Amino acid sequence: MKLIFLGPPGAGKGTQAERIAERYRIAHISTGDMLRSEIRNATELGAAAKAYLDRGELVPDSVIIDMVKDRIRREDCKNGFLLDGFPRTVVQAEALQGFTDIDFAVNIDVPFDRLVARISGRRMCPDCGAAYHVSTYQASICQKCGATLYQRDDDKEETVANRLNVYTEKTAPLIAYYESKGKLFTVNGDADIDTVTEEIVKGLDA
Ligand code: AP5
Ligand code: MG
Repeated sequence: MKLIFLGPPGAGKGTQAERIAERYRIAHISTGDMLRSEIRNATELGAAAKAYLDRGELVPDSVIIDMVKDRIRREDCKNGFLLDGFPRTVVQAEALQGFTDIDFAVNIDVPFDRLVARISGRRMCPDCGAAYHVSTYQASICQKCGATLYQRDDDKEETVANRLNVYTEKTAPLIAYYESKGKLFTVNGDADIDTVTEEIVKGLDA
């Protein structure tokens, strides 16, 4: 199974991807997590990407396309994979089509006025990428791996506004793109986390 998760910042792509990847035993590939790990490890790629992430802009297509192309060749992708945060432009979607066929693009639909509260209360695990929300989880340590949680630099209000604009301009057109290919499946992401997971599973199993 080869899946894409689409949705604006804070829609719950990472939260749902973790559950769905585990359920279907496929690799969870988050381009955002990969870039943040490059930044933390002070690699050349991380140094080049940091300014884009800090401004809420997209990293250039060529950089991301090469990164994903390499990643999906790895052994853990042989059963399939779930791309969380890629593609994000039509150029990326066409490049992806050039190197693999995807089965479904799951679009997690959440009204914009819900997103800021979700993003500003988010706390992330630097090691396993798990996301928490301060309204439901107050501990400072990751429940899964014990690392100390942190707040993402790009979760500040000014940056979030730009991320939402970039999403509308560059990524939202992918909804129509995958619909025209008969691969789009939209779920209501404005429900509790378990309900959204159930809706995705029901759709995929059908
Ligand atoms: P990325 O890391 O992909 O960020 P994003 O798309 O902005 O999405 P988020 O990770 O913010 O949100 P999410 O949908 O994963 O929500 P989450 O599950 O955490 O990208 C970051 C940057 O990297 C980009 O700006 C860009 O610079 C660069 N980049 C990445 N990919 C790229 C690409 N392909 N091309 C170019 N550049 C790229 O949930 C959010 C919060 O809500 C959490 O606190 C969670 O607990 C809570 N929550 C989740 N679901 C629910 C629910 N149902 N109800 C209530 N709360 C919920
Ligand atoms: Mg995410």
